[in-house]
Amino acid sequence: MKNTKYLMQYFKTLLTVSFLLSIQVIRAQVTIVPLPKSVKTTTESFKLKPDTKIYYQSGLHQEAELLAAALSPATGYDFTIKEASAAPSGIFLQKARLGEQNREAYELEVNKSLVSIKGNTGSGLFYGIQSLLQLLPPAVYSRERQKNVAWQIPGVKISDSPEYPWRGMMLDVGRYFFSTEYVKRFIDMMAMYKMNTLHFHLTDDNGWRIEIKKYPKLTEVGAWRGKNEKRNGGYYTQDDIRDIVAYAAARNVEVIPEIEMPAHAMAAIAAYPHLGCTGQQFEVPDNQYISKEIFCAGKHSTFDFLQDVLTEVFGLFPSHYIHIGGDEANYERWKSCPDCQNLKKELNLKNESELQVYMNRRIQAFTKKYNRTIVGWDEIIEDGLKEKAVGMVWHNPDKALKAVEMGHDVVFSLTKFLYFDMAENAIPGEVQMANWVGLVPMEKTYQLNLMPAGIEAKHKNQVLGASATIWSDQFNHGTLLREFVPLNENRSEKYSDYMTLPRLSALAEVVWTAKSKQDWADFQKRMSGHYARYQHAGYGFRLPQPVLANSVKTNDGYQVTLKNVVDNAEIRYTVDGTYPNPYSQIYTGPFSVKSLNDFKAIIVLNRSQYSLPLFVPDENEKFKKYGTLAGKWTPETVTGKNFNPLTLDLTGKIDASGSYKITFLYTTGGTKLEIKSVELYKNGQKVAEDVHDGAAGGEHTGNVYQFKVPQFETGAKYEIKAMVRGDIDNNSSGAVMIKKD
Ligand code: ACM
Ligand code: ZN
Repeated sequence: MKNTKYLMQYFKTLLTVSFLLSIQVIRAQVTIVPLPKSVKTTTESFKLKPDTKIYYQSGLHQEAELLAAALSPATGYDFTIKEASAAPSGIFLQKARLGEQNREAYELEVNKSLVSIKGNTGSGLFYGIQSLLQLLPPAVYSRERQKNVAWQIPGVKISDSPEYPWRGMMLDVGRYFFSTEYVKRFIDMMAMYKMNTLHFHLTDDNGWRIEIKKYPKLTEVGAWRGKNEKRNGGYYTQDDIRDIVAYAAARNVEVIPEIEMPAHAMAAIAAYPHLGCTGQQFEVPDNQYISKEIFCAGKHSTFDFLQDVLTEVFGLFPSHYIHIGGDEANYERWKSCPDCQNLKKELNLKNESELQVYMNRRIQAFTKKYNRTIVGWDEIIEDGLKEKAVGMVWHNPDKALKAVEMGHDVVFSLTKFLYFDMAENAIPGEVQMANWVGLVPMEKTYQLNLMPAGIEAKHKNQVLGASATIWSDQFNHGTLLREFVPLNENRSEKYSDYMTLPRLSALAEVVWTAKSKQDWADFQKRMSGHYARYQHAGYGFRLPQPVLANSVKTNDGYQVTLKNVVDNAEIRYTVDGTYPNPYSQIYTGPFSVKSLNDFKAIIVLNRSQYSLPLFVPDENEKFKKYGTLAGKWTPETVTGKNFNPLTLDLTGKIDASGSYKITFLYTTGGTKLEIKSVELYKNGQKVAEDVHDGAAGGEHTGNVYQFKVPQFETGAKYEIKAMVRGDIDNNSSGAVMIKKD
């Protein structure tokens, strides 16, 4: 008895010691995201103390203040900040001419007495500070004093600079008005990951968000929509804008305003009806749809208005770029507008698309006088712009190739990698989001290639970078995510956080780190400690599910091994079909189940923050109501850009004459499967068909095909040939089910 007790005590001590050791090891690892160019670690470390001083060279006062403001709340230390030309100890911020010319480059060196950060400019220096924060324990991001934390910084020598100059996020404040306070927090999230460009989507059908002194109705009328409890909106005064621009600039973020034209302009047209083709009075729409009402291209007054607006915008935003939208213009009104048609005739234009080109050129000529370069969605690149512009490529990489060949620069904003308003996963319980692109998991974002074949060789320097989108059309006015006004719970802000983090970190590494150094497994490992950082910073985020590391077939089922991808978190799981919660059984090692469908596991960071479950869905079970499995499609079986046949053998599954239904059901992948027709063959002869357009994705449309088997013949070979293709890309998988009526 005594011996056992002694032994238990011994093991407990051993466990505690190894636990502490493992913490030491984690601390010494450098887990900076995005991965720096060069990191060398030493065995030394620097400890922040109440009397640690922050020295800065002339011109870096703002950066020193920001560093102190970042470190003080959590440490509780009131750091002394002091200008100095040299410093033997403490933290020293220096402007230096680094070997690396890039204005955003920095060097960070930590030894036991000195933390030295050097940058060519304040921008680089700010990034050295961001890396320093990531070397400190996660609690440093807290805005409240954290006790019992050793503020230890591992000894390192880091040299770093970005691969791309445009590292962006777009925030759609048009569809949902985010407060100035939220915009600043969004900038903080960006800055943490060295993102430097905020594309500010200020105008859309559902709201005009920027005060324009010459046109007060833009915000008096255009910033508000809906009735009674649905009424909502808001706008930034010019002082608010100046405040946001300055806040961003201090964090090396340039704000690029977007004023949409000619479409997505309903809010402006509702405020000033003469801006539309018909002059009709509209209300600001409470719902998102592609409106037919667009700015009239045929009236001089439209250009007077746009130029007046841009003049005020240029006065507020120092950015070299101005985004003019240009996407999704429906030309129906232009086609029947006498002014638009007269202009078209006068200019000898072939079609309305050329009228939009005319508009783009005219606006471009105007912006040039202010030394600004226009940016537009890839629609503006379709036809010849006279001067160089920037195409924001959202449709597909072919558009980027076209743009660079025409001499323009490009920023990638591809839907299936960078539309963060799409859900990451289709797990039951996932937050409802837009789904027209399919899913955009973090790993997909990480795989984005900014140098597709054709661009790399000749047009490398024309790829400026990439920008992800937080569209808010599903918020507030949408059917999915409508805000409940009486609850006033900042639901939309929470959604926005959840959509942004952690995917923003994946994009950051895509645009900052050399492609050759990007490694998903290593990235995941470095990310494991970042969730705690978000938690401390008060950012909402999506916690990843556990990973199924291995499943081994045994005599009576499977042995399951799970992997945790979040530091200082637990895996909890169930094997009885129930949904796990933070009090379910804790995972300590491989366990056995009869069927892989039997377990569900979550990652628990704390009692209130846990992931959706990892589980292996039983597809046959899930799809049972659609009949039996006829076959599957995968990225390997759907090939080419055009519709190609997917052939499935149905011999044995068709077993009588009569009517059958074939249903296409998507399971995974970034984009949907498009279907044109399904033909039935008996011994190689076509005997029936159903031709109609269908699609199977996160949402299905016309995905059921029906035909009659005229005369069943035993022993005959039955096959279906479905003409299918991937929408944008062939990357989805799914099941094809067959059911006899
Ligand atoms: C867009 O998604 N309409 C650019
Ligand atoms: Zn018109």
